[in-house]
Amino acid sequence: MEHYDVVIVGSGHSGAQAAIALRQAGHEEPILMISRDRNPPYERPPLSKEYLAGEKPFEKILIRPEQFWADRNVTLRLGCNVNEVDWMRHVLTLSDDSSLSYRKLIWAGGGDARRLDCPGADLAGIHTIRNRRDTDTLKSELAAGARRAVVVGGGYIGLEGAAVLRKLGCEVMVVEMQDRLLARVAGPDISDFYLAEHRAQGVEVRLETGVDRIEGDGEKVTGVTLSTGETIACEIVIVGIGIVPSVGPLIAAGAAGSNGVDVDTYGRTSLDDIYAIGDCAAHPNPYADNAVIRLESVQNANDMASVAAKSIMGERESYDAVPWFWSNQYDLRLQTVGISNGYDQAVLRGTPSDRKFSLIYLREGRVIALDCVNNTRDYAQGRKLVANGAEIDPDLLADTEIALKEMG
Ligand code: APR
Repeated sequence: MEHYDVVIVGSGHSGAQAAIALRQAGHEEPILMISRDRNPPYERPPLSKEYLAGEKPFEKILIRPEQFWADRNVTLRLGCNVNEVDWMRHVLTLSDDSSLSYRKLIWAGGGDARRLDCPGADLAGIHTIRNRRDTDTLKSELAAGARRAVVVGGGYIGLEGAAVLRKLGCEVMVVEMQDRLLARVAGPDISDFYLAEHRAQGVEVRLETGVDRIEGDGEKVTGVTLSTGETIACEIVIVGIGIVPSVGPLIAAGAAGSNGVDVDTYGRTSLDDIYAIGDCAAHPNPYADNAVIRLESVQNANDMASVAAKSIMGERESYDAVPWFWSNQYDLRLQTVGISNGYDQAVLRGTPSDRKFSLIYLREGRVIALDCVNNTRDYAQGRKLVANGAEIDPDLLADTEIALKEMG
């Protein structure tokens, strides 16, 4: 049976960074990276932005040039699925029926885009934006002349997709179940601002609205029937309703976890010699009061990968990186630092109509997060306030005459 010192499952940001961090830390034994994706590791954020818009070719979104992996003795086994994990024997069974053994396993499985669960959900013309193939299929339909799109979900993916499609000249409707956009990740001031911006750009937005069924001609989408009973004609549906963590074989093997797979502060699962990192790893996060959460971000992927790689190399470093996120829509750059969940006060700093402002979230008087719109300075300076849990008078935080760096 083939043996590798470290096997990494997944070739997204966390899987790629795990291999990079191991080599940087002096690990020299063979590493195998297995992925369902058929491409060498590439960045995901551009898939719903520059790559979808046709502004960046695929080569420009590779995490490293393809040769990088071979040069460092990292073997890529692409287009391959891990079906079973035997943690006691340290053996994996793959979709091509082969088996291999490992000393340490890093599960960087990420997540699969959640799909609609309604009649017509399997018709052609319904797209998610999670991997290169999804985006290429969507791009080819746009190139073939599709012009009317319904976007289901008003989170990052849906709104970024809507912004690109508007720029490409499509008619776009966004359908969001909640009573505001970006409800999972941002406060109401940010939601109101993005609602106004999308409407000003000509996007029709329906809040508190779901999808009853997708209409088709037996093969392709022809429209979407909303929970209001109205049918919207379209050629394209984009579904951005979150992800389902991809951890099936680990859970089947007995790993603890209910929302993804549970890990400790070093990235270790409950199974010996198996780590989990990135979107699928539920970990205690110091910036969420040590609650066990999953974070879906490039930052979390990279930083957890480094922690797991160090642990494998015998260096114990707890995961305590400050979380950050970003989203580009039109000419708006939203940058977030910290986790706003559980805030009890939100302070508006600046004026949204200037299209440059920040929303600062506090809990029990301490700064826990900032959402900054076209305001990189606040974002950069606010990081320290979040890291220190700074206690600052809300009136002072709202005063744009005083730089955040002067406050904490
Ligand atoms: N109909 C309408 N809206 C829905 C439905 C539905 N059936 N189901 C969910 N929604 C809405 C949710 O209320 C939420 O506002 O879809 C939105 C999904 O937003 P997110 O959970 O943020 O997921 P998504 O935008 O798909 O992003 C997935 O990609 O960019 C990354 O960081 C992002 O990791 C995240 C992932």
